[in-house]
Amino acid sequence: MENFEFLSPTNIIFGRDTENQVGEETKKYSSKILLHYGGGSIKKTGLYDKVIKSLKEANIDFIELSGVKPNPRLSFVYEGIELCRENDIDFILAVGGGSVIDSAKAIAMGVPYDGDVWDFYAGKATPKEVLPIGVILTIAAAGSEASRSSVITNEDGWYKVGLNCDFTRPKFAIMNPELTFTLPPYQTACGVVDIMAHVMERYFTNVPNVDLTDRLCEGTLKAVIENAPIALEEPENYNARAEIMWASTLAHNDLLSTGRIGDFASHKIEHELSALYDVAHGAGLAVIFPAWMRYVYKQNMDKFVQFAVRVWNVDFNFESPERTALEGINRMTDFFKRLGMPITLKELNIPEDKLEEMADKATKSDTFQLGNFVKLNKEDVLNILKLAR
Ligand code: NZQ
Ligand code: ZN
Repeated sequence: MENFEFLSPTNIIFGRDTENQVGEETKKYSSKILLHYGGGSIKKTGLYDKVIKSLKEANIDFIELSGVKPNPRLSFVYEGIELCRENDIDFILAVGGGSVIDSAKAIAMGVPYDGDVWDFYAGKATPKEVLPIGVILTIAAAGSEASRSSVITNEDGWYKVGLNCDFTRPKFAIMNPELTFTLPPYQTACGVVDIMAHVMERYFTNVPNVDLTDRLCEGTLKAVIENAPIALEEPENYNARAEIMWASTLAHNDLLSTGRIGDFASHKIEHELSALYDVAHGAGLAVIFPAWMRYVYKQNMDKFVQFAVRVWNVDFNFESPERTALEGINRMTDFFKRLGMPITLKELNIPEDKLEEMADKATKSDTFQLGNFVKLNKEDVLNILKLAR
């Protein structure tokens, strides 16, 4: 096991009706806030009215910035920064999913910074100070509600870049599984794949003696695999939604990274798909992850055999461990298919003549290697994309 530090300071407020506590919770930090949300699902579901009522009861002044798009954009972050500065805002409440939360995190870093907030994403500067943020989560997926990451798309060149910064972990995350009842099946499935991907990015490590976190990863995956079909069949099944929602947080708050070195190559490759073709992140991962697995499994077959046996209940084939490993990958791919996810680039309408460009961007013109389980150069990334055709 590797040495580690583990910080997870987000106060998780989980369960039915918890959204009504948002005013009281926010008041601990501020009385003048930015209310940040997406394209309007929160108005259709009635959540918006509840949030406004709770904020007013707690005497909190707010201004609103709505319209965050999935795969959130830098230009909108700039708008948010200006709005906060003009109105002396010192707290951001994000109501939505990963896109809204990530946009809020970027604004929170940008407000106190003299330069261009993109400097942080471009690796030219490190945030020293950020505004605190709070979250009401409406989709179980990205795990941004307790993660240190934010992912923003710069429309100037269509670069989608993730930044890790511990200061941006939200102060609180209100998580009522009922708020996810209204998710369309496609978004539910995208969320499930993203959650599984966050666990698997950590699971596939070459670090030995990580039994506890191996088992935690396997347990998280199994709970999601059991509950996802139930949530798709019965969108208002509270218990299934609750299991998936809590898994979204635990998959990405770094508990499952403790003592391990994760991979994250599949995420970086997927970000190129989202950047150029605006695909939903989870759908892109359903295509990339199986291809990545098929490309790397021979490098540490034991780990893939363990994955197949423990997570997918594959019988160990004593004559051919390789067949066991491949059967695990097949069962995962079939599961994604059954959720209604694409599993090929073709299904995402991504043409073959763009693969080279994506491999080039992902590896910064072959100057940067992706992943840790196996280090991937541009040719490797291109090969993975070809396997995903
Ligand atoms: O915009 P609205 O109208 O709210 O609609 C959203 C959006 O269209 C809708 N939705 C959300 N809650 C709903 C709902 N519709 C009905 N009922 C509800 N309760 O769902 C759509 C997708 O929302 P989005 O926030 O984009 O989804 P998600 O949480 O999957 O976030 C995706 C973004 O997070 C990034 C991804 O790259 C992508 O940009 N990620 C962020 C991470 C992080 N910060 O730690 C880690 C992840 O790996 C990921 O990269
Ligand atoms: Zn993800």
